[in-house]
Amino acid sequence: MNTLALLGGQPLRARPFQTWPQFDQAELDALADVLHSRRWGGIYNGSQGESFETELAAYLQVPHASVVSSGTAGLMIALRAVGVGPGDEVIVPAMTYVATATAVSLLGGTPVFVDIDPATLTISGSAAEAAISEKTKAVIAVHLGGHPADMDRMCAISRRYGLPIIEDCAQSLGAAWNSCQTGSLGNIGVFSFANTKNITAGEGGAVVTHDDKLAARIASLRDHGRPPGGANNHPQLGWNLRLGEFQSAILRVQLARLKDQLAAKARGAAYLAAELSSVPGLTSIPMPTDFDPRVTAHGWFSLAFTFNGEAFRRGNNDGLSVTAFRAALHAEGIPVQRRDLIACPDEPIYADANSRDYSSSRTASAAQARAACASVVLLGQATGSGLLFEKPEELVDVVRAVEKIHENQHLLLDEPFASTF
Ligand SMILES: Cc1ncc(COP(=O)(O)O)c(C=O)c1O
Repeated sequence: MNTLALLGGQPLRARPFQTWPQFDQAELDALADVLHSRRWGGIYNGSQGESFETELAAYLQVPHASVVSSGTAGLMIALRAVGVGPGDEVIVPAMTYVATATAVSLLGGTPVFVDIDPATLTISGSAAEAAISEKTKAVIAVHLGGHPADMDRMCAISRRYGLPIIEDCAQSLGAAWNSCQTGSLGNIGVFSFANTKNITAGEGGAVVTHDDKLAARIASLRDHGRPPGGANNHPQLGWNLRLGEFQSAILRVQLARLKDQLAAKARGAAYLAAELSSVPGLTSIPMPTDFDPRVTAHGWFSLAFTFNGEAFRRGNNDGLSVTAFRAALHAEGIPVQRRDLIACPDEPIYADANSRDYSSSRTASAAQARAACASVVLLGQATGSGLLFEKPEELVDVVRAVEKIHENQHLLLDEPFASTF
């Protein structure tokens, strides 16, 4: 019974946890309505896209929202809207999904990687400030995992240096800082609606702002450079990065469910953070007791733990690797991220950029980001799972699985593990 599942024993959890994405008849009805309307795409008055923009803007308390085809598309539009082009530097946290940086590179700019605050895994204000140069054109703050970055500090940097702050909210829809929604605090906020995200239509994104001029530029950049309103001339260079009507229709339904889902995830995350932090070797980020009162809502895209293999050591060995721990957890039936995380500067596209046809990156600081990537364990939607929606009577299996690994870890120490499983 107690043999680790990775070594051929019975998995502790045989029943699946809730999955993600979730849907019901409302999505089916919304899709059918669009199908029958025969208006499946384009930008026009009365579209699903326009209605979703109005509803999203109301939820975020911003005057302007533009739906786009993906979060990456949204980042490229945001960067171009604030004037980023070849030769410009953009400050990016060294720990984020790589698209935060590649959006800069694809415009000919140079991502400048800066370190994170290990307590929150979000951009360090002092590291960002230290990396500002004459070439800096913008700063991207990423609310990683749904934890808001320190937006007081980011806005202070913006005022002091006259730099626009772009919020990468791909993982943070519903998170709030000082009671303001992420995306509404900087100059531009960018959301992703890809399959794992807090609301999803498989793919999709949105770009939001308080600024009327930026809003007009954003709406035009995603629509071939047409002026908003649909005139058939093209005063600026633009892309087609529009979102289809089926996706907007689904997103409207998903947005209506978000509040209840966030509340459920907050309960699940609070339970797991408290229970698992009492297991030696696992520390939740942030610790429940260290929760910053300025974080008035967390997006709970993921619940992150730092794994310390030393605490899993028996005798003279090196301690369990985070990869072996995740493989063992996965085998016990607990959804956990399946790949090792890579700090952005160490991604092949940036680590080995000499022969590339794009401007390389600059790494100002990344030690904490590298350490976090080498030790973080992620649970929740980041892994494609609805685990955090579960109640404690189900989530207790996560705790039991970790305890089982803890008791038996010495059996894993000599096993080689691939970084994906
Ligand atoms: C932090 C972050 N930024 C940007 C993106 C890019 O979003 P998309 O996949 O919709 O292009 C993602 C999505 O995975 C992300 O997690």
